[in-house]
This record gives sequence, structure tokens and C-alpha cells, in this order.
Amino acid sequence: MTRLRWVFIAITTISFIGIVSAVSDYIGLPPGPYCGAIHRGCCPGRQDDCSAPIIGTLCYCDDFCNRTRNEDCCPDFLSFCKGIVEIPPEPIKTCYHNGQYYGYGKTAKENCNICKCEPMGNDLKMLCETNACLMEENIISTVNDMSEHYGWTASNYSEFWGRHLDEGIKLRLGTLQPHRFVRTMNPVRRIYDPNALPRFFDAEEKWPGYVTPIQNQGWCGSSWALSTAATASDRFAVVSQGLERVQLSAQNLLSCNNRGQQSCNGGYLDKAWLFLRKFGVVDENCYPYTGHDEKCRIPKKGNLLTSRCAPPYDVDRKEKYKVGPAYRLGNETDIMYEIIQSGPVQATIKVYHDFFSYRGGVYRHTDLSAQDRTGYHSVRIIGWGQEQDYRGRVQKYWKVANSWGREWGENGYFRIVRGTNECEIESFVLATWPLTVDPVSKNDVYGI
Ligand SMILES: *[C@@H]1O[C@H](CO)[C@@H](O)[C@H](O)[C@H]1NC(C)=O
Ligand SMILES: *[C@@H]1O[C@H](CO)[C@@H](O)[C@H](O)[C@H]1NC(C)=O
Ligand SMILES: *[C@@H]1O[C@H](CO)[C@@H](O)[C@H](O)[C@H]1NC(C)=O
Repeated sequence: MTRLRWVFIAITTISFIGIVSAVSDYIGLPPGPYCGAIHRGCCPGRQDDCSAPIIGTLCYCDDFCNRTRNEDCCPDFLSFCKGIVEIPPEPIKTCYHNGQYYGYGKTAKENCNICKCEPMGNDLKMLCETNACLMEENIISTVNDMSEHYGWTASNYSEFWGRHLDEGIKLRLGTLQPHRFVRTMNPVRRIYDPNALPRFFDAEEKWPGYVTPIQNQGWCGSSWALSTAATASDRFAVVSQGLERVQLSAQNLLSCNNRGQQSCNGGYLDKAWLFLRKFGVVDENCYPYTGHDEKCRIPKKGNLLTSRCAPPYDVDRKEKYKVGPAYRLGNETDIMYEIIQSGPVQATIKVYHDFFSYRGGVYRHTDLSAQDRTGYHSVRIIGWGQEQDYRGRVQKYWKVANSWGREWGENGYFRIVRGTNECEIESFVLATWPLTVDPVSKNDVYGI
């Protein structure tokens, strides 16, 4: 009684000519008619001889063929015998997105977000994640369209493109909330004439070769370590009048100052300065920066020799580089006076989303990303100046060294509005006194 009539034969035949997939949905078969072409036409019940020829076998036009899911019905059985007009199979749906077609389930990356072709209602639609990205096209273009108004220009940094804002805040900054310790740190008072301070100052011009070059922290939230090491280095050179020109090791801090610190996930500045005061650090050559959270590989205590560092050849130093207690500078002119007296200082800034795309000019944060997350970052103030803005008003600024490489901003530096505590830059300014070698000991060594 099995009535698997032509299917079996047809499959062998058709597969032979390479259209096996066409059996059940009739695609690729000669157009017919079949039932419409035979004399008997359509037959009720089961009548195995109620058939029509089709590519070397038979198809059926009796009602029985209905039960086997049309597998052996003639292609025109439903339309000719039952008057059922078949709706042609729907064309394969796709998503059209930014000039390209994507099949069902296919994904595309749009800046930092993944888009996926997914069903929505009766259609497929490209649905995208909506995370804030580190580089946002609308921030860049709005700032540049109104750069006179904002006072600065923006740029699309390829190193930052495609990253989440959260990644930038976690791995491009790296200074933990300063409020905790700053409250307990009193500003120092100095006696000077604020009106005698110059209108322009640049530590790099004043002390050529003393200022630490621009660093690149990479994707490691280590600004706490880099800015501390660089500020201390600058001060060693300035205070020793060039006798101790050294680049101190930020990795030494990053790897070894681990009590209460979070390495590439950020650190506290007071703890970093305390470490430098208590244990000191070695120089960059001896312990180079890797930007990774690694195990400390030198003894915390001890000197340059026990840390297997080559001591400097021109000064008598065996100790690691240590500093006195860190102190806070309370206002704009105090900061300026401190820089002129003994070199760059460390500052903490609140970083808004738009800061990542800063290209040049005098930065002040905009309201273009007011809802977005912010973070804290530490940097080095190396000078100041002023310029006229587009309305002809004097705009004072700080010149600040960032740690995002030389490609970013103005050769790795940025200028930011001075005197109004923009991004809290004047709130948490720290400096310290370096414990340089006694110049006399150099004479001793060389017997001069
Ligand atoms: C054949 O199939 C069609 C569609 O599935 C159905 O409407 C019709 O009633 C069936 N006819 C018989 C005789 O089973
Ligand atoms: C930004 O740069 C990246 C890579 O360099 C590029 O793919 C992207 O289209 C650029 N975006 C804008 C808004 O210019
Ligand atoms: C900062 O404080 C000092 C006193 O420490 C004061 O002489 C100076 O005028 C202040 N500067 C500003 C800009 O307020």
C-alpha cells in the first residue's frame, strides 16, 4: 500500500540533473501545465493512474496526493484542481544598512557598537547597541563647526575609534577620586608678588632638556604612576640645576606600589607620593615602562645596586630617587609661582567625554556630552600663557602634558582654561621637593 510514488524515482532522477532541492517546492521544474494538460484532468479519491508525465516520471492529480504533503502532486495540482492560488515564496529578506545588505543574523560593527540583522515585526532590521563610544562623530563635528565658540578643535583619533567610552575612562585615565586625601592636605602658603608673575611661561623653554618627554600610557589606567614619576623627574632636573637629569620609572610605581593601589585600573596620588618618599624609585632604563599589570621585580627597599640598576656615572648616587612630603598648591598664582621656582607640578582633572577628541586650542568642556560618564586623570602642568579669543577677550590657559602620546592634542600637550578651575584642574595640584644628591658629593667623587 505504500504510495511513495514518483518522489523516490524523481529524487534520483532530479538529483542526477542537479536540482534535487526543487522537488518539494517545484522551483526549477518545467512550467507545465501537467494536470491541466491531461485528458482526465483532476480525479477524486485515490486513482494511481490519474497522473501526468513530468521529467521522465509521473506526477499525480488525484486527491490522495494531497496527503503526502504534495510531494507527488503535479506542480499545478493546487492551482488547477483546487483553485488555490499559491502565494509565491517571499523573497529572502535582508537588512539594508549604510549602503550594504546583511542577511539574517549577520553583524556589523559601527564605531564601538555591534549591529545585528534581526526580525522586527514582519521585517528584518539592523539593530545596533547604543553604548557611548570614545570617539563620537557628532561631538567631533559639532565642536569643529563651532570651534570659535568653544575655543578648541576636535579630531578623530584612530587609536580611540571603535572603543567604548567606558574603556577610555577605565584604561586611558587611571587616577582614583582625589577628594579623599586632598581634604586632609593643607595648601602651602608662599610669599611672592602675584603681579610679578610673567604672562607666559613654558618649562621646556626655561629648562631645555629637563622636562620629561610626552609618554604614552597605552590601554592601562596608569596616569597616577606616569604623572607622579614624570613630575618627580622634572623636579630632580630643575632643583639640581641639571645635575640629576633622570627619567624615573613609572613601572616601578605601577608594579611595586600595590598597597591600596590598582595598577592599570587606577591609583591614588597621595599613596604614590608616599611610596616615593618612603622607598623611592629607580630610573626608567633600569625598570622600563610596559604598561602592564606585572609583578614587582625589584626589592621595595634597598638601593640602586640591590635593585641591579647601573648608578648614574656623573653623580654619586646609590640611593633610589626619593622625595620629601607632597604638598598642595591652593590657587592659580600659587601654582604659577611653584612652577617657576622648582618645575612642573602634578594636577588632576575631571575628564569629560569630549576631552578625548581634543585636537588643539584652549580646552573647556562642552555640554555636548553632559549625561555621559566622567573620570579622573592626572597630568603635569608645565606652563601657562594667554591669547585673545574670537570676541577679543583675553583667554588665560595652562599648558599641560598628557600621557596619550605625541599624536594626540598639540604634540601630546593640551591647553586648558586657567583661573576658573576648569575640570577641577586647580583643585588638586601637588608638588614635592626632590632629594637630590648633594652637589658637594660629586666633587668628592671626582676629587675636585
Ligand atoms: C488538500 O489540501 C488543501 C490545502 O492544504 C486543503 O485545503 C484541501 O481541503 C485538501 N483536499 C483534500 C481533498 O484533502
Ligand atoms: C575615524 O577613524 C576611523 C579609523 O581611522 C574610521 O574608520 C572612522 O570612519 C573615522 N570616523 C569619523 C567620524 O571620521
Ligand atoms: C593665592 O593665594 C595667595 C596667598 O597664598 C594670594 O597672595 C594670591 O593673591 C592668591 N591668588 C589668587 C589668584 O587668588
